[in-house]
Amino acid sequence: MSEHLLVASELTKRFGGLTAVDGVDFHVDEGEIVGLIGPNGAGKTTVFNLISRFLEPTAGTITFAGVNLLKVPPHRVIGLGIARTFQNLGLFPYLSVEDNLLIGRHNQFRGRILPLALGLGQREERAAASEVRAMLEAFGLGAVRGALASMLPYGSQKAVELIRALMAGPRLVLLDEPVAGMNAAETQAMGQFIRRVRDERGVTVLLVEHDMSLVMEICDRIVVLDFGRKIAEGTPHEIGTNPRVIEAYLGQEVDRAQV
Ligand SMILES: Nc1ncnc2c1ncn2[C@@H]1O[C@H](COP(=O)(O)OP(=O)(O)OP(=O)(O)O)[C@@H](O)[C@H]1O
Ligand SMILES: [Mg+2]
Repeated sequence: MSEHLLVASELTKRFGGLTAVDGVDFHVDEGEIVGLIGPNGAGKTTVFNLISRFLEPTAGTITFAGVNLLKVPPHRVIGLGIARTFQNLGLFPYLSVEDNLLIGRHNQFRGRILPLALGLGQREERAAASEVRAMLEAFGLGAVRGALASMLPYGSQKAVELIRALMAGPRLVLLDEPVAGMNAAETQAMGQFIRRVRDERGVTVLLVEHDMSLVMEICDRIVVLDFGRKIAEGTPHEIGTNPRVIEAYLGQEVDRAQV
C-alpha cells in the first residue's frame, strides 16, 4: 500500500494528435514542497488540470490519500483536500480583501445544509471571519483587511490569492506560476510565504514555476517534464546539474531569460 499523499501513474493526456502528458509517473509525500518544472508547453498546467479533475486523462491513474481521484467528480476535489491557484484568475477587485477570503472559505460549507438549518451558520461565519483575520495577521496583511483588493500592490494580491486557496483547509495546494510578473522582492516574499504555509500549517505544495532560483530554493524535490514526458526527478542539486534538464531548457533560452 502506498503511503504517498498523491500518486500519478502512467498519466497521459492527448488533445487530438498532440500528447500533452505522456505516461508520467510521479508522487508527492505529505509535507513536501515538490516543483513541477519544464519548458513552455511541457504539460505542467495540463497535469494540474488532470489532478483538479478539470480534464479527464486519456490513460493512467491518480490517487490522493489512497482515494482513486478519477472516480471523484470535479466539485468534490476541494472537499477532498486539494486546492489550487490559477495562472490568471485574480481577486474580485471591488470586494475587500476580507470578503475575497470569506468567499474562499465558503467552499468548506457547501452542501452542509443541516448545520445551517440548525442555526449553526452564524457561529461558523463568525469563526470564518476570525480565521480570515488570523491568516492575514499571520502573513503580515492584517492592516489591509478592509482595503479593496484592487488597491493592494501586485505581490500582496498574489499572497491573498494563496490565502484564499488555503481557506478551504486543503492538505495539498497546487500553485501554477505564483511569482509570474513579480519583482525580486515580491518573489522573495512569496517564497517565504510558501515555505511558511508548509512549515506552519503542514500544507503539502506542488509548485509549477519558471523562476528557477525560487524553485531551487524552496523545493524539496523536483520533477521535470519536457514534451509531456518526465525526463528527470531529484533534489534541486541533482536537477540543477542534470545534463538532460539543462539541454531541455537551452532550446528556449532565447525567450526565457530567467531560466
Ligand atoms: N485544452 C487544450 N486543447 C488542446 N491543446 C492543449 C490544451 N491545453 C493544453 N494544450 C497543449 O498541450 C501542451 C501542454 O500545455 P500546458 O499548458 O500543459 O503546458 P505548460 O507546461 O503549462 O506550459 P507553460 O509553461 O507555457 O504554461 C501544449 O502544447 C498546449 O498547446
Ligand atoms: Mg502552464
